[in-house]
Amino acid sequence: MNVDVLLGLQWGDEGKGKVVDYLADDYSVIARFQGGPNAGHTLVIDGKKTVLHTIPSGIFRSTVSNVIGNGVVIDPITLSKEIANLKSQGLTLDNLYISNKAHLILPTHRLLDKASENAKGKEKIGSTLKGIGPTYMDKTGRNGFRVGDLLLADPKKKYNSLKAKHLELVKIYPEVEFDLESEEEAWWECVKILNDLKIIDSVYFINDQIAQGKKILAEGAQGSMLDIDFGTYPFVTSSNTVTAGVCTGLGIAPQHIGDVIGITKAYCTRVGGGPFPSELFDADGELLRKEGHEFGATTGRPRRCGWIDIPQLKYTIMVNGVSQLVLTKLDVLDIFEKVGIVTDYVIDGKDTDRLPYQYEDKTEVKVSLQDGWQTRVNTARSVSDLPEKAKNYVALLQEMLGVNIKMISVGPDREEIFEA
Ligand code: GDP
Ligand code: IMO
Ligand code: MG
Repeated sequence: MNVDVLLGLQWGDEGKGKVVDYLADDYSVIARFQGGPNAGHTLVIDGKKTVLHTIPSGIFRSTVSNVIGNGVVIDPITLSKEIANLKSQGLTLDNLYISNKAHLILPTHRLLDKASENAKGKEKIGSTLKGIGPTYMDKTGRNGFRVGDLLLADPKKKYNSLKAKHLELVKIYPEVEFDLESEEEAWWECVKILNDLKIIDSVYFINDQIAQGKKILAEGAQGSMLDIDFGTYPFVTSSNTVTAGVCTGLGIAPQHIGDVIGITKAYCTRVGGGPFPSELFDADGELLRKEGHEFGATTGRPRRCGWIDIPQLKYTIMVNGVSQLVLTKLDVLDIFEKVGIVTDYVIDGKDTDRLPYQYEDKTEVKVSLQDGWQTRVNTARSVSDLPEKAKNYVALLQEMLGVNIKMISVGPDREEIFEA
């Protein structure tokens, strides 16, 4: 069982990038298995911040191979920007590999995303508009354009026929502003950069590593509540963000999966539309946003904030088979006099710890308030450094969730984390 999995248990932005970067030295390979540039994974190394969208978060560890797997969708424009940023920081990127089976996001996928989201009116998903949905639609519709297709004799032919289909399709939507010509020019320019990278058959690459006894960490994007099957559908993304997605997104057989490390914030956030039962609309919600700097790493949008939600986490722990938890952003709660925990949902007047099929506009929840610790915890490097009330909060969460809390993160920097 050489493959561990690290993924978010909420609606994304749990701090996956930071934790993967921290753990990466223990692995030979870090591999992204789904999603695309809708993700924004933030690393802070010696005070310097880098946001990764497509490139795995082990990229700063030169001995670690970083693989963009077949389940990922890639926009050459975003990828080029990421590459330029990392190169400007002195990275060679010799340790970056891209699957020839990963699908490419075309400019017209972004055009379709924008047009279809615009047409939704009140029912908007709040998509990042990076073309994720339309690209996965073409994948499952068997029309997609894959990285390996760039190596074909005439990639433009395939591109043009897909583009023509998209332009037909976009006619069903009201017109949107989109400078297709300049977007296409930029796209083809950036595709040239892709040709200089290591494009591989990642399925053999990963399985060869497994056969050699090397350790692999699969890095999730988005969060389990954004999973296409298990999330708050239709307010979800278009891939399987849960552990099962690792098998299809990398070509790994299930028996190789070892530890599943689930990440949760010490509270909860969501960006975009859709149900969020523990959301706070009061001063506490504002304070969480301010203290946690809760603004999207990809879109800059303010994130909706609320208390940690035990029924929601128990559900995603179950679906993913989580064996270890990482608790992030504990420091954000330092200022609070009282810290809330959602213990139950109230459905049809009854308390339950099961998530409903359909959510009310404001699903009622039960909140248990705990004493806050009102002490800065960012310098803590072991549980014994935490104030008593913070220890009690962590112990209570662990008891309620029934899974060991392996690590606690107390600040954005690489060093601000410890084994619990
Ligand atoms: P990801 O998408 O799961 O990788 O998470 P994001 O990078 O989108 O959002 C997490 C944000 O919280 C980033 O700005 C991180 O730098 C920051 N962060 C991560 N861990 C901690 C922590 O323990 N405390 C604080 N205060 N910030 C953190
Ligand atoms: P990371 O990996 C938080 C949300 C969007 C929207 C919905 C669908 O940084 O945790 P899409 O662009 O996929 O069509 O958007 O999913 N979303 C995320 N929210 N973190 C992310 O990634 C997200 N990726 C997508 O806001 O509600
Ligand atoms: Mg993010």
